[in-house]
Amino acid sequence: MGEKLAIRGGKRVIPEGTIKKWPPIDDTDREFVLSALDAPSHTYSTHCKAFQEEFAAWNGNKYAITTNSGTAALHMCLVACDCGTGDEVIVPAYTWSSSATCVMQHNSIPVFVDIDFDTMNIDPDKIEEAITPKTKAIIVVHLHGLPANMDRILAIARKYNLRVIEDACQAHGAKYKGQKVGTFGDCAAFSFNQNKCLSAGEGGMFVTESEEMLAKARALWSFGETFEDMAKRDYHVYSMGWMYRNNELSAAFARAQLRRLDDYLAYQKESTQLLTELLSDVPHLILPTVPEGYEPNGYNYTIRFDMKALGHEHDASAFRYKIIEALRAEGVETGVWQRFILPAMAVFQAKNGYGKGCPWQCPHAQPVDYSVERYPMAQKHCDTHTGMTTPLRLPNDLSTVRLVAEAFRKVMTNIDQLEE
Ligand SMILES: Cc1ncc(COP(=O)(O)O)c(C=O)c1O
Repeated sequence: MGEKLAIRGGKRVIPEGTIKKWPPIDDTDREFVLSALDAPSHTYSTHCKAFQEEFAAWNGNKYAITTNSGTAALHMCLVACDCGTGDEVIVPAYTWSSSATCVMQHNSIPVFVDIDFDTMNIDPDKIEEAITPKTKAIIVVHLHGLPANMDRILAIARKYNLRVIEDACQAHGAKYKGQKVGTFGDCAAFSFNQNKCLSAGEGGMFVTESEEMLAKARALWSFGETFEDMAKRDYHVYSMGWMYRNNELSAAFARAQLRRLDDYLAYQKESTQLLTELLSDVPHLILPTVPEGYEPNGYNYTIRFDMKALGHEHDASAFRYKIIEALRAEGVETGVWQRFILPAMAVFQAKNGYGKGCPWQCPHAQPVDYSVERYPMAQKHCDTHTGMTTPLRLPNDLSTVRLVAEAFRKVMTNIDQLEE
């Protein structure tokens, strides 16, 4: 018998209170947020506009509109790309729910494509077989901050005349062949929610290089009006609109955080590389792959357990939870991200988005098949993964990374203690 696991009454590796919360807050954040609080208006104005400009400059985009969520920005992308009733939009089978539900918000139909197990991103080899005459766009998700294979995806999009929407909600600063994500497609969405590398409580950004797409996205953003400047509103509704505006407090917070984003990302590169190095000889772990030319931003360090080697292919998900429980008892903040692949979720299985079978029953739609067996890699990933964010980010330091590695080593080399 090896070292006693904490879950079996042994001493935990990471003492309670070691891991510091995200994001780091300093006086710049206080100064910016207080200036927004003391300003005459808290609705979309000075800080929001400055944030749009600063973020676009940081990312290398021509135009940006700040929103109250990444989901809102994704919906704006759909509309900017003219996706409408009955149009099909390709989405990876494993991603955040709103990468796909944003499609239904405009009566379009998500068509799922399996992921590549190694990168966890959409499998470019499987995209063409999902294309039909109704396909309008591909939503590319740079999952967990690793860019998708943009050369392959853009080539397919060109061949079939499809729009490309980048869901860069998790991928601030990630680069593909030296270029930042959010600059490859027709438009892109970023999120600034609590867990994101640029975190402002909540918030989002729509970005594009196209003036025409900017105008279409803007029409959706504030009740279907068309203004850029609140002072110039005519309060006329020109088209179906939502209320997706960001506000001054969140934008001020985001601006302050943006000033330190490059430091955060540099640290995450270091911490994730160190963790990969430290875990390289720990048994039964499948560590993240970083193909040549890809620069992930270290958003969510995702490990898969080799359930075949562990003898747990038959109960992979249940045994994965047991390992996670053991890791958590050692003090590792690790969890399961999406518990279901998207096509398995009730909304897609029932094909009932907002009653009476819509949008799938819409006369413009053609039938789609969401049988879960079509997405084996997404399912395998879903059942065997665990991921972590905070322990690998500032204000934590590399000593935390070493403790995390030690805890993984302890659990994985004493895994027999979980068999009963
Ligand atoms: C890949 C992905 N897409 C979209 C979203 C939606 O972002 P938000 O929560 O800001 O709406 C998230 C985050 O939750 C995400 O991780």
